[in-house]
Amino acid sequence: MEIIIEGIKKIEGQISVPGDKSISHRAIIFGAIAQGESRVHHFLHSRDCLNTLECMSAMGAKIEKINHSMIKIEGVGLHGLKKPAHILDAGNSGTTIRLLTGLLSGQHFNTVITGDNSLRKRPMKRVTQPLYLMGAKIRGENDNRFAPLSIKGSKLNSIEYTLPVASAQVKSALLIAGLFAGGETVIIEPQISRDHTERMLNFMQADIQVVSPKIKITGKKVLQGAEIFIPGDISSAAYFFAAASARKGFKIIIKGVGVNPTRTGIIEILKKMGAVIEISNYQIKSNEPRADIKIEGNKLVGIEINKEMIGKLIDELPLIAVLATQAHGKTVVSDAKELRLKETDRITAIVAELKKMGALIREKEDGFEITGPTRLKGAVCESYHDHRMAMSLAVAALHADGKTVIKDAECIDISYPEFFNTLKELIK
Ligand code: S3P
Repeated sequence: MEIIIEGIKKIEGQISVPGDKSISHRAIIFGAIAQGESRVHHFLHSRDCLNTLECMSAMGAKIEKINHSMIKIEGVGLHGLKKPAHILDAGNSGTTIRLLTGLLSGQHFNTVITGDNSLRKRPMKRVTQPLYLMGAKIRGENDNRFAPLSIKGSKLNSIEYTLPVASAQVKSALLIAGLFAGGETVIIEPQISRDHTERMLNFMQADIQVVSPKIKITGKKVLQGAEIFIPGDISSAAYFFAAASARKGFKIIIKGVGVNPTRTGIIEILKKMGAVIEISNYQIKSNEPRADIKIEGNKLVGIEINKEMIGKLIDELPLIAVLATQAHGKTVVSDAKELRLKETDRITAIVAELKKMGALIREKEDGFEITGPTRLKGAVCESYHDHRMAMSLAVAALHADGKTVIKDAECIDISYPEFFNTLKELIK
């Protein structure tokens, strides 16, 4: 599907965004292995989360859609999953395959898990390597580096492990494996990464303690089913923040957005760039903070982003490249090599597409450098079948003269199926 977007005069309004993708995955996985019923409110019905849902259903969890935003999960208990009748398919979802690899390693049956063309090219050793130390038996393609992964359920032992790269997916896979291991598993993080796993495990009464940078989990403790309220996904809200922040007179309010401090890098950066941001109605529900966020556009200035911030805005970096084209001065993003290992190589991809639109952008090994502001011009752009690329380019198109075509835009279904409809509501 191709989407055509024209430059806009104004963006204004009040919206809410769908449930957080990372938290939705975790709600399904933990709800399925908990004891008793869990009810998950504002669950994200996007392709990635539905892959996790189907994998867990295939292993015997009873998951029922009550209405568009609520699902009910009948947990099978820590040792109640069953061998699936077929190969598990994680689709495009790195979170699904990595978290489930941790889960499947500690089962009493064997499984195979795979994914689409993009996922089968993404690195899996980062998760299999530490799992081997826990006693997992996993075989993969090309010297065990890629999916499909064939996993022989095993008895796991606890480890103490320092992550070589900050990754919430790897951390979570190990914490999940730690649930099935004897003794205390200790994970040490080199930099901050999203902590939704720790928060939800704590909420569901796992034996977990966080004394940053260490996370400790003691295995064999049964999780308790819970009422889980998922906040709006800040990574989805970010596209509208960006759309509104670059022009004086633009104003939006997004209600009930997740403001977990491991995810709010985009707000910190937008503030530093000059956007006017007001946070109200802060509350904590199901151990995750949420708030209403009002953004008003302003004259933006360029910024430097490196190591300390990267983990808190990793998925927003292509969007920050777009914003930087509208900011005065230079923006430099460094220490972001991880972006090359996402659904596509997001450094090469965003540099190529923004160049087509006239941006002054230079690729670096670990990021990019942009000089702004530039009056962008419409172009025919590739999404690389990557949802975050498609939505970032849509925001660039709003600030461009003429028409922009975004190819293969159906990939937005991965995280935000209603994105274009909500965008239309805001364009005045
Ligand atoms: C995610 C973690 C991040 C992020 C991804 C979702 C998660 O990946 O980029 O979109 O749900 O744990 P890494 O853990 O690989 O950094």
